[in-house]
Amino acid sequence: MSLKEKIDTSKLPQHVAVIMDGNGRWAKKQGMMRVFGHQNGVKAVRDTVTAAAELGIKFLTLYAFSTENWSRSRLEVNALMELLVKSLAAEAKTLMENSIKLTMIGDIDALPDGARTKLQETMQLTANNSRLTLVLALSYSSKWEITEAVKKIAAHTKEGMIKLNDINAELISKHLSTANMPDPELLIRTSGEYRISNFLLWQIAYAELYFTDKLWPEFEKEDFYAAIIDYQNRDRRFGGAKEEN
Ligand code: IPE
Ligand code: IPE
Ligand code: MG
Repeated sequence: MSLKEKIDTSKLPQHVAVIMDGNGRWAKKQGMMRVFGHQNGVKAVRDTVTAAAELGIKFLTLYAFSTENWSRSRLEVNALMELLVKSLAAEAKTLMENSIKLTMIGDIDALPDGARTKLQETMQLTANNSRLTLVLALSYSSKWEITEAVKKIAAHTKEGMIKLNDINAELISKHLSTANMPDPELLIRTSGEYRISNFLLWQIAYAELYFTDKLWPEFEKEDFYAAIIDYQNRDRRFGGAKEEN
């Protein structure tokens, strides 16, 4: 039985989030520059997106560039932004053919003009697609997002549009950039690092975490299936208890 056949399609997570990590280390292993690793990570993105769409997963969020990643060399940042524009142009047809809707979370205004324009264009083009929503986290960090939400809630409270007693977990969720999405049930991180790196802190409160040593350019459909199977074998208790005593 193949890994794909072992997946129970009636028990799929609705939303999978991925921290795509390890491009630089993969490149180093080949004796190449970091940028070479990013270029070779594009295939893993394509494989993951198509695997998610084929399985029937509704939301896939990919951590592509963090707020902290701006601190990398100009060469690397520019290469990543150019790669984004190039990949969006190259993949637009595939997004349409597979009815994949592209959206983003993060500080879109912080992106260079070319990247922002291409992103907006692709989001508009795919806006009516409905099979899978692909969310790119770009210039994203959870602390940035929560700070923005707090500012909005504080302003609305000051103006009297929100009462102090209306502030609850649901209202906070609605002010995050993930407002219209279910929280991820599964978070995958590649490259053998066991940390969250400022990603979706609020939304992963009850997510199942899955870590693999594979570096991102090595990540294939089979690895995605393995993560889903692992998730399906977890006992999700949400603080409750199965047995009475
Ligand atoms: C992930 O790979 C891609 C981005 C963060 C943009 P890295 O570039 O972080 O690769 P490592 O972790 O240095 O190997
Ligand atoms: C997290 O990876 C960000 C992305 C995958 C875009 P990093 O490589 O930036 O995170 P750290 O530095 O290992 O925490
Ligand atoms: Mg890294």
